[in-house]
Amino acid sequence: MIRFYKYTKRYTVPAILLALLLFQPTAIQADEGMWLPMLIGQKIERMHELGFQLTAEDIYSVNKASLKDAIVHFGGGCTGEVISPEGLLLTNHHCGYGQIQAHSSVENDYLKDGFWARTRAEELPNKGLTVTFMRRMEDVTKQVLKGVKDNMDEAKRQEIIAKNIKKLTDKALKGFDRNFYSVRINPTYYGNQYFLYFNEIYRDVRLVGAPPSSIGKFGGDLDNWIWPRHTGDFALFRIYADKDNKPAEYCPDNVPYTPKYHFTISNKGVQEGDFTMVYGYPGRTQQYVLSPAVEYLALRSNPQKIHLRTLRLEVMNREQAKDQSVRIRYANKNARVSNAWKKWQGESRGIINAGTIAKKKDFEERFIQWAQTSGKQKYTNLVPRMKDLYERLEPLLFASEMYTEAIMAVELLQFADNLATQVARRGPEAATSLAENFFKDYYLPIDKEIFEILFAEFYKALHHTPELLPGEPLPTVLSQVSSGKGLPLLPMHRPQAEYFREAPAETSAHSVAHSHGHHTPPFNMTALAEHLYTASALIDKEKTMEILSKDKDQALELIKQDIAYQLIEPFVQKNRTEIQPQIKEINDQLNLLYRTWMQAIMEFDKDRVFYPDANSTLRVAFGTVSGYSPKDAIVYKPVSTIEGIMEKDDPEVFDYNIPQELRDIYANRDFGPWEKDGTVAACFIATNHTSGGNSGSPVLNAKGHLLGLNFDRVWEGTMSDIEFDPSVCRNISVDIRYVLFLIDKIGKADYLFKELDISQE
Ligand code: ARG
Ligand code: GLU
Repeated sequence: MIRFYKYTKRYTVPAILLALLLFQPTAIQADEGMWLPMLIGQKIERMHELGFQLTAEDIYSVNKASLKDAIVHFGGGCTGEVISPEGLLLTNHHCGYGQIQAHSSVENDYLKDGFWARTRAEELPNKGLTVTFMRRMEDVTKQVLKGVKDNMDEAKRQEIIAKNIKKLTDKALKGFDRNFYSVRINPTYYGNQYFLYFNEIYRDVRLVGAPPSSIGKFGGDLDNWIWPRHTGDFALFRIYADKDNKPAEYCPDNVPYTPKYHFTISNKGVQEGDFTMVYGYPGRTQQYVLSPAVEYLALRSNPQKIHLRTLRLEVMNREQAKDQSVRIRYANKNARVSNAWKKWQGESRGIINAGTIAKKKDFEERFIQWAQTSGKQKYTNLVPRMKDLYERLEPLLFASEMYTEAIMAVELLQFADNLATQVARRGPEAATSLAENFFKDYYLPIDKEIFEILFAEFYKALHHTPELLPGEPLPTVLSQVSSGKGLPLLPMHRPQAEYFREAPAETSAHSVAHSHGHHTPPFNMTALAEHLYTASALIDKEKTMEILSKDKDQALELIKQDIAYQLIEPFVQKNRTEIQPQIKEINDQLNLLYRTWMQAIMEFDKDRVFYPDANSTLRVAFGTVSGYSPKDAIVYKPVSTIEGIMEKDDPEVFDYNIPQELRDIYANRDFGPWEKDGTVAACFIATNHTSGGNSGSPVLNAKGHLLGLNFDRVWEGTMSDIEFDPSVCRNISVDIRYVLFLIDKIGKADYLFKELDISQE
């Protein structure tokens, strides 16, 4: 097979050759897509070809219990699945991390030691945690678009749609308690189609078990987004219901929920080529965007955000390494910052390697030609109009991202803004928990250094577009700071080349971050930092609580006088009142054109099967267990085992330091019924098209039995939100047999097995 990217990497490939290459059949059939459960019939034949043995009705049905009835949207950001008739729920450790942390204290450190409820009474309630079942979905396009006419003014159109949506929602929810039932009506294909989702929300969800982090987060951020992987990324919860099995607020009298359906667990394991499907809640993908959107993302936005986060992480990592307590306090913050930081690197690299930008440009050219030659008047101008809008959008988007990634990344500044908002909205009393949270994990030296660095970076990045900086009066507070001799020397940045060794020349040309503009902020950063981090009351818990003990007006006044607030406010205002509204205005216009674009490419590209972008609604992806080749001469196998855990085990490295117990179990080869071929499988990869939000999703075999839990994607394939390249895009799952092994041998919670259905198939 010809490796496509080799030819496109430098964009030197002649257009003709490129067009030919585009139609090369690939060795691996692309089974990309995140399909609507209700319409899975479209793909069922292909699924059967790959080995699937159930019907479309088994996947989704409103008339009988189906696979969908065992799946929940977990806490809004992850997926989970019911695995017992008594409401036992599986999701990822990283999805339940917040809950596990909230129950942890120095005496009972469940993050470190794991947690296992020995009885139902020991299961721990979690305030605010919900799980949502999608009970039915419906195509409501006709009803939503009722009264809408072609060529109608867009504002009018939106108004009619909003009214129709409200009417449909009210009708569907009539007689239902809105605390426990919700309806969402989501546009699909940029508003060409609308689907209604009727949801049931359970609010009493208790923690049942979790492995120690050294297993549940094994490999930490070093292994994150990487194959081969060995993370036992799972946690167990239980859904509780009232006596009638209906959702209820937490109450000790609630009883375990009886699901309509729960998954049978397969103890058979996987092999290269096996059918798998992932059923869950992917968050957001952008498969159909135009080339300028991808170019911006891959070559400008990602590199700049990566650069800023590299600087932040350098500070955190250094300080965390110096001090155990700082390491713990910043563990979660660091993980959050580094998760996207690492993904963006894989994503940009993947887009470059796949030649996505060149392919999109070529597609757009061919589209324009087609529209012209076939007399499609309404389409001929579409691409140029959208490109014009992107040209206007990009500087604004870039600025907006700098506001979030540089200014709002400073904890103190963000805190000052949040605190003022909370006090204004809910009063000082209600804002105390925000303050508690802030101070619990705050370490001033880190924040101060990050402030100095990022503030300077912000001015450097936006010096080409001074109109996007806050104008006069530039934070009046600055004038209080005696002006010094200019910027302090900034730490050396890692060169761009390190992220994008194979990047085309365009990368650096587009990257403002490395354009060596010697612009400096119009003030002395060191002096400013010194002043800010001594004069602000908001660095001090007692002083802050003192402010929050006053009445609302007084508290608000004191916060507004604080230097941190005065410093952040002009930035917040600039962003909120000028940049965001302009972005929204352009995005509205773009969305409108994307609506036409979708229709147009469906006409143009008749043979292609389209699937809607992810939008946090329930989707089915399917594929096969499959290794891949990340580089010349390297081939990855699809299944990792406990042997790899022992290879990585290192008591000296925090992320690779497994519990002694696991070492002992391994030494005694005490694998129980979870052993196969003399070892225990840990994780596996497959070609399912997944995204953020699919964490915790069930991975099912041909019979619909549970094989594992999805929790990540591979580094080379993280561009699948934009383009799915079947040669390298893989989802990573923890093998269910490793989960069972851990529940059994580490949790010693084999009493849970009584309620599970474990099958040898
Ligand atoms: N990359 C996975 C997901 O977005 C796992 C994230 C949690 N793990 C971690 N090491 N930070 O999001
Ligand atoms: N870990 C991700 C999540 O939290 C899933 C990985 C991905 O983005 O595919 O949803």
